[in-house]
Formats: sequence, C-alpha cells, structure tokens
Amino acid sequence: MHRLCYNIEVPKKESVALEKFLITGGVKLKGEVTISGAKNAAVAILPATLLADGPCVIENVPNISDIAVITRILSDMGAEIRYLDKTTIEINTAGVASHIVPYEMTKQLRASSYFMGAMLGRFGKAKVSLPGGCDLGARPIDQHLKGFSCLGADCTIEHGMVNIEARNLTGSQVYFDCNSVGATINVMMAAVKASGLTVIENAAKEPHVVDMANFLNSMGADIMGAGTDVIKIRGVGRLRGACYSVIPDQIEAGTYMVAAAITRGDVLIRNVIPKHLEPIITKLERIGVCVDQFDESVRVWVPDRRKFECTSIKTMAHPGFPTDMQPQIAALLCLAEGTSIITEGIFDNRFKYADELMRMGADISVDGKVAVIQGVEALTGAPVRATDLRAGAALVLAGLAARGCTEIEDIYHIQRGYEDMEGKLRGLGARIALKRSAVSMVSSAV
Ligand code: EPU
Repeated sequence: MHRLCYNIEVPKKESVALEKFLITGGVKLKGEVTISGAKNAAVAILPATLLADGPCVIENVPNISDIAVITRILSDMGAEIRYLDKTTIEINTAGVASHIVPYEMTKQLRASSYFMGAMLGRFGKAKVSLPGGCDLGARPIDQHLKGFSCLGADCTIEHGMVNIEARNLTGSQVYFDCNSVGATINVMMAAVKASGLTVIENAAKEPHVVDMANFLNSMGADIMGAGTDVIKIRGVGRLRGACYSVIPDQIEAGTYMVAAAITRGDVLIRNVIPKHLEPIITKLERIGVCVDQFDESVRVWVPDRRKFECTSIKTMAHPGFPTDMQPQIAALLCLAEGTSIITEGIFDNRFKYADELMRMGADISVDGKVAVIQGVEALTGAPVRATDLRAGAALVLAGLAARGCTEIEDIYHIQRGYEDMEGKLRGLGARIALKRSAVSMVSSAV
C-alpha cells in the first residue's frame, strides 16, 4: 500500500524544469519559521527500515522530493508505505524479497547508495546501480566498498551495477582513508547484522551519522561511539521495528539564518538543535550578525546600520563549517565589506553558483577549490539557474537581498532538499512566487 494523500510526487524533470522562482528582493524578513526533519538523516533512515523485522514509524520526515524518490524505491521493492500524517511514515519492509535496485531508481539521488548497506545487512547481498545526486565533482564509493570488503563481502562493479555479496558477514576493523558520511552510515548498517565486533576508525561525526546510530539502536542494535572518530558495533541476530523521530535539518536552519541576515531581518527559527548549528553561528557572528540561542530555537537579527564584515571560511567535516552551507554563506559575503576567502575542503567542484551570482553583480573569482569574494554595495536581480541544491538556495538568498526581480530556473534541485521553501519564505514576508515558464514550454516542445 502506498498512500499518496500526504505524499509529494517524484518530480518529472520535463515538467518541473519549467518551474521557476520569481523573487522581488528588498524585504526584511520577519517572524517565525519552523525547520523540517533533516534530509540527510531521513534519506538514510528510510532505507535502514529494511533491517527491521517489524514495521517502523518514522516521524519528522521532510516533505521533499528526495524522500519521495526513496519511498518510491522502497514501495517498488515491495515495502508497504503508509503516511500517517504529513511528516510521519509507517514502513513495513516484510514483503521485500529482491536485493536489486536498478539504475532507473538510483540515478536521481546519491542516497540510493544506502540501499547497499541496508540490503547487505538484511540479505547478505545487494545489487545496486551506482548512485546519482548533485554534481559536485567526483564522488567515488571506494570507501563504502572497502568497508563492506572488511566485513567479508566480495564487491564488484559490472555494467554500472555494484554487486556485493557475503557468505558470512563478519565484524572487523574498518579504517577509512577519508572522512565519509555515506561510507560510515553504510558500513554501520551492514555491521549491525554481522557476527562479532566491528570497529570503524576515522568515522564521520556528522549529526546525521549519530541520528542513524540512534535509530539503529532503537531497533535493538548495539552501537557505541557515534559522533566520535571511533564507532564500535556489536552485531545482533535480529532488529525489531521502532518508532523514531528524525533530527531537525541543520542545513535548512542555516539557510534560513542566512535569509534573516542577508535581508537584515529578525527571524525566530524553531525546531533546531543549536549545538548542531555552532559552526554556522560562529561564522555569522564573525560577519556581524546577531544570534540569540534558546533551547530549541535561534533568533537571528542584524542591528541597524551594522555593516557585514568579510571573513575566511574553509569547509570541513563536522564539527567544521559544513560544505552544505558554503554557497549560502558565500551569498551573504558578497555583501560584506572587504575581501572574503572561501576554501572548499570536501568537494572538487562546489562553486558552480559563482557565475550565477556574478550575473547578479557579485564580484567572485574562483581558482580551483578557492573563491575570493570582493564585497559589493548591492546585488541586482537577474535571470539565473540553480545548478545544484545548495547553489539554488544561495541564489534564493541573493534574490531576497537583491534590488529588483530575480528569476531562478531549474528549481527542482531546490525542491529535492527544502520543504516548501517558497511557503516558508512567504510566511516571513518575502515576495516569492512559483511560476511556470511559457518560454521554456515552447522551447521544450520544439
Ligand atoms: N569520498 C571518497 N570515497 C568514498 C566516499 C567519499 O573519496 O568512498 C570523498 C568524496 O568524494 C568527498 C568526501 O569524501 O570528497 C566526503 O564525501 P561523503 O561521503 O562524506 O559525502 P556523501 O555521503 O556523498 C553526504 C551528504 C552531502 C554532504 C556530504 C558531506 C547525503 C545524502 N549527502 O554526501 O549532502 O555534502 O555528506 O557532508 O547525506 C547536500 O545535502 O547538499 C549534500 C551534497
């Protein structure tokens, strides 16, 4: 059963590519906004329900298109998916018999790689097409496969499919050569069902890694150390169904924090874990933005006449400054006094938004993994294109601050990871509308 009453449809590229955001900048955002569940936690937790013997209820699931893709994959595999309300999904994977996830299902998102670990844990084998996702440069999966091999699996890649098979999954020492969120989560999912002890060293420490470990533990797994460099997993014979609530999305929160700052507004951002926002808060304060922290919310505001100050940022694994906030903070630094330097420490190609921001009057020069931003007095609205999820978010932020109208196309990238962005921004007073483009419809018909 796959009830679609609260579900959002998987976007069809031909139709959504025609949707645009129209933003008229210059409004100071004011009011309150509530943050949804974390995309990067939810896209891992949903496949992990394959490991449970009984039904799972997952709460605080964001209503975004990446989740629609994951639930569609699970449903096509034979899982029963039932939306109990807009953000709560009951998943029963008892009916899943296949260990194969073909290309048509995985090409749209990176997180489809999580079916590798989940099915290896459940069936002892998995056959999953190499994943898609945002184009941020090379995104190898060698560390995922290294981890599975350490647990005794044979891994091969043929015709675009990753074949993983283990006669006996056996706990082992896994040392990652680089810090990888995906590899850490994938190996955790396989190791919870392996016999004996697995020790992951140089593990990723992101909040969604911890959330995944908490979810697996709520199903009866025995995982210790998530959130540190070393995670210890003692395999168990079976996992039961569980009810679990996904953590709030730290990147969505950070994006609205920048929205408040760049419009010189005053916004209370609800449903956040302030601890997860520390690297973002530290940089915003350095730039001159005020952030008041409460138990589950933060208030972001800018004093009258306060000028934004330039700064240097290097993206790093958690608890460093997150790469997923790099384009958004760059949009803010375009309006800071002086020269800011951003160094991308995770991905090879995460400055594709720079050309688009320059169309809006920004002064940015990019050399490899370093961007130099010379602050300007003002940005001006222009037609621009979202090149990936966070790049799209940066353009929305720039549009909110710019003089005049900004038209953003290819917003299906943004809809992959932000729940109802236009509705939430409108609730804060922004002038933003979702538009279908007659011009694109004509040209795509040709
Ligand atoms: N890497 C390897 N080999 C591997 C795995 C990773 O060399 O086997 C490298 C990558 O090329 C990259 C670095 O390690 O240079 C980090 O990659 P990681 O595996 O941590 O990234 P990911 O799991 O593919 C997740 C998020 C990304 C986020 C990164 C870093 C999901 C679905 N995606 O990707 O989120 O940027 O971690 O925090 O969780 C986004 O939300 O916009 C987004 C891109």
